[in-house]
Amino acid sequence: MPSVGASLIEIPDRVRDLGGDDCVVEVPHQGKVSRTLKICTPLKTWTLKIATDNLSRRRLNRESAILAQVGTKPTHVYDIPRVCRFHCQEGWLLLEWIPGQRLRDRLRKTQDMSELVRWVREYAKAIRWIHNLPSSTLNASQSWLEWKLSEAKNNLVRGWVNQDDLNLENRGVPLEELFQRLLGLVPEPRISVCIHGDVASDNLIEREERIVGIIDWSEAGFGDPYADLALAWREMARKPHSDHLWNEFLKVYGLDEIDWNRIEFFLLLDEFM
Ligand SMILES: Nc1ncnc2c1ncn2[C@@H]1O[C@H](COP(=O)(O)OP(=O)(O)O)[C@@H](O)[C@H]1O
Ligand SMILES: [Mg+2]
Repeated sequence: MPSVGASLIEIPDRVRDLGGDDCVVEVPHQGKVSRTLKICTPLKTWTLKIATDNLSRRRLNRESAILAQVGTKPTHVYDIPRVCRFHCQEGWLLLEWIPGQRLRDRLRKTQDMSELVRWVREYAKAIRWIHNLPSSTLNASQSWLEWKLSEAKNNLVRGWVNQDDLNLENRGVPLEELFQRLLGLVPEPRISVCIHGDVASDNLIEREERIVGIIDWSEAGFGDPYADLALAWREMARKPHSDHLWNEFLKVYGLDEIDWNRIEFFLLLDEFM
């Protein structure tokens, strides 16, 4: 199996046998959690997500279970990766590749305001679609928020939260103090819907000028829609004319008034992930 930028050693035996001699292994843009390889054979292309530590192993476990529930169905407007193989002990997950490019890369190339607005509307539609999935799509045994708060605490205690990765306004604040601030902001439970949990633009796939796929489902659950809205707001806040973009987003998503305390809470929660 020839490879481009990836070592053959990284490919588990049970994946190596997929394509015989005609496989090409590429290294796509990496996410934050696992090591991801793109495996191309003449017939099919796969994504191989490999755990790099115990945390990413846990995430892969979770992702494979969630994808088994959410999986692409004929009724789905968006492609969701199908699980082909999963090996819990060896820590890898083999998924179908969704052709296209990440929305993040598409947005970087977009300077024109009307084009940006069009993408923001697409983004809002994708999130609205996730939030409108039937509640039975995900069977949640634990409250999503409780789980996330315990993950945040765990990441803090184990020293996995890095000061340098914090948003500028939080940099320099002792992490323990930041965590106490987070606990003080925990919102009252409100409506719960299906949420993706990490719906940043690097987890949306674009093709032929539309969003066609949604990947990286390890953080999904049944919880507060603001968990997703906060991440979308952060994406827009970093762009010029962010107010205009956000208003367009809200129009398409269908929300008149924003609860900024919730946005603040979920942004702070994300600092510990
Ligand atoms: N099914 C897929 N189809 C297309 N690209 C993918 C797919 N899965 C992963 N990728 C690519 O690999 C990157 C990392 O994968 P992701 O599932 O987001 O992992 P992480 O949990 O590490 O963020 C993505 O940003 C994207 O570039
Ligand atoms: Mg990702």
